[in-house]
Amino acid sequence: MQKQNEPLRFLVFSASLRKDSLNEQLAKLTRDVIVKNGGIVDYAQMSEFDCPSMNQDLEANDFHPDGAKEFRKRILANDAFIISSPEYNGSMPGLLKNTIDWVSRFRPQPFNERHALLMSASPSMAGGNRALWSLRMPLEHLGTRVYPNMFSLAMAHKAFDPKGNIADQTLQERFETNLVAFMNLAEAAKNYPCIKKAWVEFLGEKTDDVTERVE
Ligand SMILES: Cc1cc2nc3c(=O)[nH]c(=O)nc-3n(C[C@H](O)[C@H](O)[C@H](O)COP(=O)(O)O)c2cc1C
Repeated sequence: MQKQNEPLRFLVFSASLRKDSLNEQLAKLTRDVIVKNGGIVDYAQMSEFDCPSMNQDLEANDFHPDGAKEFRKRILANDAFIISSPEYNGSMPGLLKNTIDWVSRFRPQPFNERHALLMSASPSMAGGNRALWSLRMPLEHLGTRVYPNMFSLAMAHKAFDPKGNIADQTLQERFETNLVAFMNLAEAAKNYPCIKKAWVEFLGEKTDDVTERVE
């Protein structure tokens, strides 16, 4: 009998500390869609990952702030992570970058080879999308496989219905399709690593010592 794969685990959080955060609403919708599609959600609050401002002098004696330790633990305990981030002045919030900087100091470096999906919500017409381009940069620098399709919810203060879904049905479907596609990619990356070999063969290369790049 074929062995059933375990459900995938996703760390989900909003990078806002605000009580009535729009990104929190989007993160909660993300949680619901993942569960509906058979995934397990580890739902976190940004306050759990909050860190003092990066100062290398604090790093004496291998010090890591509690927020960084917690974020690292949760990244490693899950198969992939999803951040819904506000946009502050055309970029990601400083507290999120600060936490990423602290977490990047652990060895092995926890972001390396993890899969991530980025989303944003904003009252603006661009939905906070520029924050995601800035967030993509340090994560990719650290080796995270950031999913190409990012989701930004424009006019987010008017976008949700009373049940917490996106009121525009076409947009809700697009949100779900993107999320499920990311879940499928994370699942394939976890359970079917042999796909790497297929990639080499697709290029028509012989897998010998000279051309083998994906051992
Ligand atoms: C310091 C600051 C800068 C902001 N800059 C932007 C911006 O560049 N683009 C944007 O769409 N919204 C901007 N906003 C508005 C936020 O998108 C809005 O407050 C949003 O609700 C924050 O996300 P949250 O609801 O999850 O806390 C800014 C808000 C603050 C506090």
